[in-house]
Amino acid sequence: MDYQNLLVSDRGAVRSITINRSDKLNALNLLTLQELDAAFRGAREDATVRVIVLAGAGEKAFVAGADIAELATLSPVQAQAFSRAGQVLMRGIERTTKPVIARIQGFALGGGMELAMSCHLRIASEKAKLGQPEINLGVIPGFGGTQRLTRLAGRSAALELCLLGMTIDAARGQALGVLNRVVPADQLDDTIAAVADQLAAAAPIALAGILDAVTLGADCAMDPALEFETQAFALCCSTADMREGTQAFLEKRKAAFTGK
Ligand code: COA
Repeated sequence: MDYQNLLVSDRGAVRSITINRSDKLNALNLLTLQELDAAFRGAREDATVRVIVLAGAGEKAFVAGADIAELATLSPVQAQAFSRAGQVLMRGIERTTKPVIARIQGFALGGGMELAMSCHLRIASEKAKLGQPEINLGVIPGFGGTQRLTRLAGRSAALELCLLGMTIDAARGQALGVLNRVVPADQLDDTIAAVADQLAAAAPIALAGILDAVTLGADCAMDPALEFETQAFALCCSTADMREGTQAFLEKRKAAFTGK
């Protein structure tokens, strides 16, 4: 499928989806949200895809936020639809049962930070800058940022970042638990490729169980969350991959998982 604002490519079982509006620092306009939604649907439905890497084109930005030129023209009703389109996209990314890695080489601001937080892992360059600067425009995060930042970094940090609209560097982002890994810029792609390859070789049904249990469990009381974990664990025990993984351990060899 051809996209106006995205580049999509595969390296083995790793699908890269790259937002390609570098002249606007990959700002999220409605068309880009719609194209991302379609690209993620495609990646979810394609059985050959095991891992997704989400990136922004160019050196400067992962994504510098919602498109302010478009935002400036929205009526309240259009703003509601825009917020919902972003929220549906990002919840869809979060609920994807294949690991999604955000590649953050520069600015991840506003909707860009929200988009990164909807991914399962965030790997960043030391040059990355994060923030929720919506307050400076007279609005609030509208793509789930108030909720995901609170869950990832806690209420105190979420309030500080959203109320002050400040930009933080990669080291603070990692200290807050928002960034999983921070590496020198010239090691970013190799680090992401190594993590993606490890995930692509892992047992997909078990990966899906972890993603579902962590994401859904976080929004449940302890008992239903633990019950969900039990059922996902039991499902894994019905798979050929579970038999292969345990047998490979006992035979002191590397497991070859097939996704069955
Ligand atoms: N929406 C629309 N366009 C954006 C954008 C956004 N969120 N962020 C950057 N751009 C555009 C700029 O308008 C500029 O376009 P132009 O060349 O046609 O004028 C281009 O991208 C380059 O940005 P510029 O501001 O010139 O780069 P910079 O290096 O001086 O500053 C930032 C970088 C990220 C600090 C600055 O672009 C910025 O503050 N962006 C907005 C961040 C924000 O508030 N995001 C939340 C939105 S809800």
